[in-house]
Amino acid sequence: MSEAASIVGPLPRHVGIIMDGNGRWARSHGLPREEGHAKGADSVRTVVRAARKLGIQALTLFAFSSQNWDRPPEEVFHLMQLLRRYLIQERSEILDNGIRLITVGDTERLPAYVRTPLVELMTASANNDHMVLCLALSYGGREMIAKAAAAMCRAAVAGKLDPADVDPDVFGSYLESSNLLPPMDLLIRTSGEHRISNFFLWEIAYAELYFTEKLWPEFERADLEDALHDFAKRERRFGLTSDQVSTLPSRTLAPDEDGTSAASTGG
Ligand code: IPE
Ligand code: IPE
Ligand code: MG
Repeated sequence: MSEAASIVGPLPRHVGIIMDGNGRWARSHGLPREEGHAKGADSVRTVVRAARKLGIQALTLFAFSSQNWDRPPEEVFHLMQLLRRYLIQERSEILDNGIRLITVGDTERLPAYVRTPLVELMTASANNDHMVLCLALSYGGREMIAKAAAAMCRAAVAGKLDPADVDPDVFGSYLESSNLLPPMDLLIRTSGEHRISNFFLWEIAYAELYFTEKLWPEFERADLEDALHDFAKRERRFGLTSDQVSTLPSRTLAPDEDGTSAASTGG
């Protein structure tokens, strides 16, 4: 059962979270960084459960960036171990709750001990339709745009795409995320940083941004609800005037599935 009734106003279809602040949380408690990551995994559990209960269609969690590979090898190793543990421990919760697990990013780079349980759970959950949980792993927004551009160039060279036809809709369709996810409506970043850090770039063109001082390990269901309440109060104008927006039925301004054009029907 959805508990979205507690939120007055529209609910975002797709929420993204830049889960930041594990290291600072650990330091503030006199603990090693690993403990912060472990506590952060508990927040993931809490937030996935809350999002599912609140009726969010899709939740994308930025778990590991392309740039995070350059952290000290011990930390990278620990994060990979934690990811493996998460996939194994959360398997039944994900399946029992009708959650479909997908990923974006260069997952080929992940070690086999992560990829194996990841692929297994993605396959086992493929037909679930209550919520999409997308893990951004080895993910870089610029890397994904470059990859889409390369695929588009290949299509042009093969004579399957006329460069004259390339517009935002066409380009967007080459992005991995566009085929898998609705447009991102709300992007949350924890830990007081006001930056995107190479997360979704193209896809957040019209996302509402929400920043909180809370460090990721202390982020709870109530914090997600605060963000949703804040979102519900905002007027999304997509370039139009306030008067124009108020005469349109709600949601008709939502971008297309590939996150591009503003005036179309949404879900
Ligand atoms: C987020 O916490 C987790 C990852 C980026 C993998 P951090 O590890 O970045 O924590 P801070 O920013 O150092 O506090
Ligand atoms: C962004 O956090 C990446 C993830 C949350 C996975 P970072 O901690 O890597 O970002 P910066 O270094 O503060 O920009
Ligand atoms: Mg950080």
